[in-house]
Amino acid sequence: MKTAKKMLTLISVYIAKSGLNHRKNLVVPSSNSTFLFAHKQRKLSRNRQLKIIKMTAVASINFDEFGRPFLILKDQDKQTRLTGTDAVKTHIYAGKSVANALRTSLGPKGLDKLLVSPDGDVTVTNDGATILKMMDVDHQIAKLLVELSQSQDDEIGDGTTGVVVLAGALLEHAEQLLDKGIHPIRISDGYELAARCAIEYLDKISESFGFDKDNLEPLIQTAMTTLGSKIVNRCQRQFAEIAVQAIMSVADFERKDVDFELIKVEGKEGARLEDSILVKGVIIDKYFSHPQMPKEVKDAKVAILTCPFEPPKPKTKHKLDVTSVESYQELVKYEQDKFVQMVQQVKDTGANLVICQWGFDDEANHLLLKHELPAVRWVGGPEIELIAIATGGRIVPRFEELTAGKLGKAGIVRGLSFGTTEDKMLVIEECQNSRAVTIFIRGGNKMVVEEAKRSLHDALCVVRNLVKDNRVVYGGGSVEMACSLVVGDQADKIATMEQYAFRAFADALESIPLALAENSGLNPMEEVTAIKARQIKEKNPWLGVDCMGKGTCDMKAQHVIETLTSKKQQISLATQLVRMILKIDDIRTTEGSPE
Ligand SMILES: Nc1ncnc2c1ncn2[C@@H]1O[C@H](COP(=O)(O)OP(=O)(O)OP(=O)(O)O)[C@@H](O)[C@H]1O
Ligand SMILES: [Mg+2]
Repeated sequence: MKTAKKMLTLISVYIAKSGLNHRKNLVVPSSNSTFLFAHKQRKLSRNRQLKIIKMTAVASINFDEFGRPFLILKDQDKQTRLTGTDAVKTHIYAGKSVANALRTSLGPKGLDKLLVSPDGDVTVTNDGATILKMMDVDHQIAKLLVELSQSQDDEIGDGTTGVVVLAGALLEHAEQLLDKGIHPIRISDGYELAARCAIEYLDKISESFGFDKDNLEPLIQTAMTTLGSKIVNRCQRQFAEIAVQAIMSVADFERKDVDFELIKVEGKEGARLEDSILVKGVIIDKYFSHPQMPKEVKDAKVAILTCPFEPPKPKTKHKLDVTSVESYQELVKYEQDKFVQMVQQVKDTGANLVICQWGFDDEANHLLLKHELPAVRWVGGPEIELIAIATGGRIVPRFEELTAGKLGKAGIVRGLSFGTTEDKMLVIEECQNSRAVTIFIRGGNKMVVEEAKRSLHDALCVVRNLVKDNRVVYGGGSVEMACSLVVGDQADKIATMEQYAFRAFADALESIPLALAENSGLNPMEEVTAIKARQIKEKNPWLGVDCMGKGTCDMKAQHVIETLTSKKQQISLATQLVRMILKIDDIRTTEGSPE
């Protein structure tokens, strides 16, 4: 309030000086008042000056007929406001900053980012969505870009960096149009039409990709393109094969869908990336309860118990007086007999392995070994469920209810031990419901394993998208350039103001090949112009940036393959977001709310 008073005095000084008639309702022109404050308040601290300047932007101060000033909005002195082109430009600036941060991560030669969380956890990643999520941005428009990348991740899985770079470029070009005096709505509408034109062209040039269970090579090539920009590119082919095999095991070709629930990705640090494997079954982080139990159970019939599996024990609320050695021995014998009976009961159902959610003591463990019934104890709830799904068994909550029909079946259950570490895991393979698979990722350290998991997720999503829709385009910025040429051509045929937006859209599309060339250490402008000229001359839309220096720009020959859905989604999501940003022309921030 104090500042507001000061402001009002200053405004009256201004009014008195400028000789304006303050008996009329008048709005103080903000640019002039800004100047005045800057001039008058030279001695004030810089912060304070800024604050006052900000507040004058709000200044829709009116005066009544007696010259008394009054405020229209509640807490107006606490609000800051930006309107019109200023507002749009601030947004554009915020959006561009986020996109610029991601630009260097694009492409096979793109760089990784290292992010440190508030509690000191380190993440190294190349995945656009992860970078943005962990950047913890505060600006409201920047947050929209984070969501943009997230929605690309949810829908498609890959292309999360590209979509943000494209949105940034669209915003950048919109700024130039705003400077030319074109209204944001005209730009927004023009962008929409241009995006439609580009997407139609993509549909036209896309190629159908024939693959079947015996010819998985096309799928592997596409997965390899996705993995090419990641930390795992050292064993790109192996990971691509793992992703394709995993999807093929669980895909439902009739419904053209893939249930991701059936693919579990586990990771453990301590070995090389090359040691990662695909298990057609389930891996659990537990081991046989006794070290002398067999390391392998073939043709396993699994009893899955969520009830106690141990000799009966007196409950704490009961009191048992043992007064003589004989009665103690009798009690021990009773307990043992009872447990042996339980073991026999399990064996009678035909089970040769017990998986137990609860623990059992060492005595029970010894008896299990003696009676040759391998068991696994302390298996967590989610894992128990997964085992039940995979083996087709039923979870048994009461011991008496265990019957032969409730056993799960698996071809082999074997232990997995790693190098010199004590860690051991259990693999359940050749399950009855063999569709569930587990990808077990190894890596030198936790960061590598986590990044490998994220990269594999991208590859899995891409293969899944191909199962859904087998149309592809080629990458390396080639489609973007081809679309840019088409949209640019179209621009010349438009008689209205949207023509400018079309051209801007065409230029913005070029940002992808430009970024790819720049990140690969090439001269971006030189490279992109040369390729564009070749695309026109040779009428080949698949000429792109040769990032890997393979000597050919033909992305089809280089097998740089991307799904059509991903490209279409990138263009439409980026355009939608940019249109939304262009349509906001007023920002009000109340003091105290995050800016
Ligand atoms: N071998 C290659 N040669 C040329 N361009 C390539 C090659 N491999 C991939 N690209 C291009 O790199 C871009 C993809 O880069 P990148 O994987 O870093 O980003 P993204 O897929 O947009 O986001 P993210 O993978 O982080 O979700 C695509 O435009 C693709 O065409
Ligand atoms: Mg990618």
